[in-house]
Amino acid sequence: MLARSAVRALAAPSSRLFSSSAARNTKVAVLGAGGGIGQPLSLLLKSDPLVTSLSLYDIRGAPGVAADVSHVDTGSEVTGYAADQLDQALEGVKVVVIPAGVPRKPGMTRDDLFNTNASIVRDLATAVARVAPEAHILVISNPVNSTVPIVAATLEKAGVFNPARLFGITTLDVVRATRFLAGVVGAQPADTPVTVIGGHSGPTIVPLLSQSSHGKGVTGEAYEKIVHRIQFGGDEVVKAKDGAGSATLSMAYAGAKFTNSLLRGLNGEKGVVTPTFVKSPLFADQGIDFFATNVELGVNGVEKIHPIGALSAEEQKLLDACLPELKKNIAKGKDFAA
Ligand code: NAD
Ligand code: LMR
Repeated sequence: MLARSAVRALAAPSSRLFSSSAARNTKVAVLGAGGGIGQPLSLLLKSDPLVTSLSLYDIRGAPGVAADVSHVDTGSEVTGYAADQLDQALEGVKVVVIPAGVPRKPGMTRDDLFNTNASIVRDLATAVARVAPEAHILVISNPVNSTVPIVAATLEKAGVFNPARLFGITTLDVVRATRFLAGVVGAQPADTPVTVIGGHSGPTIVPLLSQSSHGKGVTGEAYEKIVHRIQFGGDEVVKAKDGAGSATLSMAYAGAKFTNSLLRGLNGEKGVVTPTFVKSPLFADQGIDFFATNVELGVNGVEKIHPIGALSAEEQKLLDACLPELKKNIAKGKDFAA
């Protein structure tokens, strides 16, 4: 069972997006910086005091985004790179955030994005392996359950894979669960952190409300409703945007939040714990070697993978539904990369 302090720390919503500790020299690249997520994410990273240099790359539009964002009066330097400047964009970077790729339209699943996004992510990972093999890679591009294994296999082929430095970003599920629970119980999100485990698509998203002091009181129809909303929150946004894409602003917030957590860990702050989709031993004996759980972030990236802790009977059912789907998604990514 997770220690209560770990559960509370996992997503610790705060009144400020960023916490800062000692400032270090930290260059962060955004690949896909011209897009719906990339633009606000670049702005939020420009506001993060732990980012000292920001490298913005896209096949279109990144120099313009960089020129715009660079006028914000924070300390970091910002440089934009055009389509043929990927290698320059990656020089000396410590953290690479990847929101490059196509988003869903109504009626599509995340898996429907695979054919387009798999090769985009593979090609970007190949460049990271060549130019910045020690960089920490944060994958936002969907389907995350498959794109993360693609990045791992690509780095492995290049002989530079370090599982402590690869993260699938599931923070939006945590942010949603926290916000939705706050609404249901009439509390502030700062008091309703929720651990979300598994993967990042429909039934692979498993919120552990029983491990939350507010969440364990939500039962019956209210429980069914909130679980469905957490698992399908992405569809809610896709539907409301009506063909114009998927979540961008909340994702930029979540991506910046996770990046700040990682930078704090890399800078030596202790006790930074948040869910993320990483290479994990927890279900590896069932052929599922990537899984999101609470992870402690430290100077090397992944410091400690927490166990899932005690589950309610409902959560065990959710986990049982998650595992076979996740296994398929991971295998699809691996097959592609092979
Ligand atoms: P978007 O179309 O607005 O932006 C994508 C950007 O990627 C574009 O600017 C495009 O030019 C760029 N791009 C395409 N190929 C590229 C390449 N080879 N190199 C560099 N840049 C490239 O899409 P968006 O709304 O920003 O979404 C991006 C991705 O993030 C989608 O796959 C979406 O499903 C995913 N997403 C994930 C989460 C999550 O929780 N992990 C949440 C929201 C969206
Ligand atoms: C989300 O959860 O909002 C993203 O994965 C985008 C999507 O396609 O739903």
